[in-house]
Formats: sequence, C-alpha cells, structure tokens
Amino acid sequence: MLVSIGKREKRLKNEKLLTVNDLTVEFRIGRRRKIEAVAGASLDIGVGETLGLVGESGCGKSTIARSIVGLQKVKKGRIIYSGQDLLQCTKQRMKKIRPQVQMIFQDAVASLNPGRKIGKSIEEPLRVIGWADRQERGHRTHEIMKAVGLDPEQMASRYPHEFSGGQCQRVSLARALILRPRLLICDEPVSSLDVSIQAQILNLLENMKRRFELTMLFISHDLSVVKNISDRVAVMYLGKICEIASSEELYRSPRHPYTALLLASVPEPDTAPKKQKKGTFHGEIPSPAEPPPGCRFHTRCPNAKDICIEVEPELKRFAGGRQAACHFPL
Ligand SMILES: Nc1ncnc2c1ncn2[C@@H]1O[C@H](COP(=O)(O)OP(=O)(O)OP(=O)(O)O)[C@@H](O)[C@H]1O
Ligand code: SF4
Ligand SMILES: [Mg+2]
Repeated sequence: MLVSIGKREKRLKNEKLLTVNDLTVEFRIGRRRKIEAVAGASLDIGVGETLGLVGESGCGKSTIARSIVGLQKVKKGRIIYSGQDLLQCTKQRMKKIRPQVQMIFQDAVASLNPGRKIGKSIEEPLRVIGWADRQERGHRTHEIMKAVGLDPEQMASRYPHEFSGGQCQRVSLARALILRPRLLICDEPVSSLDVSIQAQILNLLENMKRRFELTMLFISHDLSVVKNISDRVAVMYLGKICEIASSEELYRSPRHPYTALLLASVPEPDTAPKKQKKGTFHGEIPSPAEPPPGCRFHTRCPNAKDICIEVEPELKRFAGGRQAACHFPL
C-alpha cells in the first residue's frame, strides 16, 4: 500500500502543474533606462511538488511570482498552468483559473487593509469571485480560520494592528486558502519573523499543503529555510535561473559556482568558525540595469575564464534531471 502511494506521488510530481518558459520582465526607470528584472527564466512545478526559489535580494524572485499571479506585465515568455497559457487566456477563462493560483505576499502586515476586520479581510476573496450567500461565506471563513490556528470567535472582529507578525502571516494564509487553490505561491513567508515563529509558520505550511493537496512555489533568500520544505530548488542570479536540482542534490553537491558560494555563506552555528569558510563572494551584485555580458555571474565567480565573459551559458540538463547554466559546472 505504502509503495503504491509513493508511486502515485512520484507520477503526480512528474505531471506539471506550472511551466514558466523564457519569462522576461522589464521595468522602465525614468525616460531612457530600463532594467530586465527577469531575463528569460524557465522553471516548472509538478503536481503536489514544492519548488523553492532562492537568490540574493533583487534577483527577480518576486517579479516571477507576481507575473504568475497576473500582477506583473510580462514582456516575453509563456506561463502554462494546467495546460493553459495564462498570458493568452481570455478574460472569462482567467476568471475561472485565478482562484486556483493564490499568493502570500512578502510583507504580510502591509498586505492587509488596516481599517478592515480580520474576518472580513479573510472573507473578501469569496465576495470578489461572487459568493453571494453571507452565511456560506461566514461558514467557509470560520472553517479556514480554524485550519490556520486562528480562533474565529475571538479574532474575526479584530483589526490587523492587534495581531503579531506570525498571526498576520496566518491571516494571509487563510486569505489565500479560502478559495481552495491548487497552486500556492509563498513569497518570503517567514523572513520578517523571529526564528521560533518561523518554525511554527513553516510547520503550518507543511500541514496545509498536505490537508489541501497544494502545489507550492516557496520563495526565500535564505537557503536554510528553503532546504527542508522544498522537493526541488531553483537558484536565481540577476534575473536568470542558474541551477535547478532536487533539494538533496543541490545541498550535497551544487553544480553552479554561485550555488556553491551561496551554500558556503549559510552560517553553521554548531561548527567551529575556522571550519566554516568554504568560499566567499567577491564584489558587489552588478546593477540589473547594466548586467555583465556573457555569464552574468562572471564578475564574482572564482572559476571564470575568457569564454564566460563572451558567451552566455545555457541552462543545460544533466543526469538525473538537474539543470545548471555554467560553462564549467562543478
Ligand atoms: N515596480 C518596479 N519598478 C522598477 N523596478 C522594479 C520594480 N519592481 C522590482 N524592480 C526591480 O527589479 C529587480 C527584481 O526585483 P524583485 O522584487 O523581483 O527581487 P527579489 O528577488 O524579490 O528581491 P527581494 O529578495 O529583495 O525581495 C530589482 O532590481 C528591483 O529593484
Ligand atoms: S559560466 Fe563561467 S563565470 Fe559563469 S558560473 Fe560558470 S565558470 Fe563562473
Ligand atoms: Mg522579493
């Protein structure tokens, strides 16, 4: 029995729920300048899978997330959800798909309306999609608040300022789950929380994932947070995906020099300081307005050779399905 459940899970994860192909997003800065915040990024997420997305601040993680949920104008690329290209769908079709793809935003507190009671905020997405029956909305709100660990009797009529950061994150989660989505995008869901609260929210996300059979895109700049929750991890640098691998393989033997340096920079509290230094970053992250030619990482890469300055490496597939964009993979 256990074996057959395992096989079923594996088969489902091989079935893609979301495929992002060659996504490019530009922002105008002033009259003449523009930046390519996302520069031809491709990734996919299998049914029931959690894909972690990591990279330093400003590399384009939130821009990818916002593009998937339709909040960001896309210059080029395809976003295929359950076989349908979201960038080509009719408005009517999108109305049906949107509730299935929900997102928890980077700043949970700021994403809540300070003048609206928590219960009303959680219920709002139901009103937006046209649930007219007040009693039904109330019932679903009650149910979802309990699921995320918020007492509906005590808390529904309170305002956001009466809630802690962790509680606000629970409210955001309830708002996202009330429509029973299939795909949940979590943008830095724990980065603003204390470590002890982080663990609670991560456990809650795992529970909700099982209970509601979710597929997840989990975004963080912190590799140690992403490690445990993700089946696979995609690493981003300056608008590009540079490596994708199973969580286990990526942490055990990274193929891209950027991933290796990111891993080396994760603090290891139980290790003696002299054993910690496995490599360090040189130089600052270049401006996305003027990305380096060739491999965008060459200005900071300890392994860079002449070809890296001239030729951009493609994201190549290696044995076992892992991918890396490097002329000299580790
Ligand atoms: N609305 C905007 N207008 C102009 N530039 C923007 C806008 N939104 C994002 N950017 C720029 O696009 C790049 C990618 O931003 P994004 O927010 O996607 O990065 P991120 O990886 O989510 O960073 P963080 O870890 O800090 O959240 C950055 O250089 C950012 O300054
Ligand atoms: S392509 Fe060259 S510069 Fe880029 S990561 Fe690989 S070795 Fe470093
Ligand atoms: Mg972000």
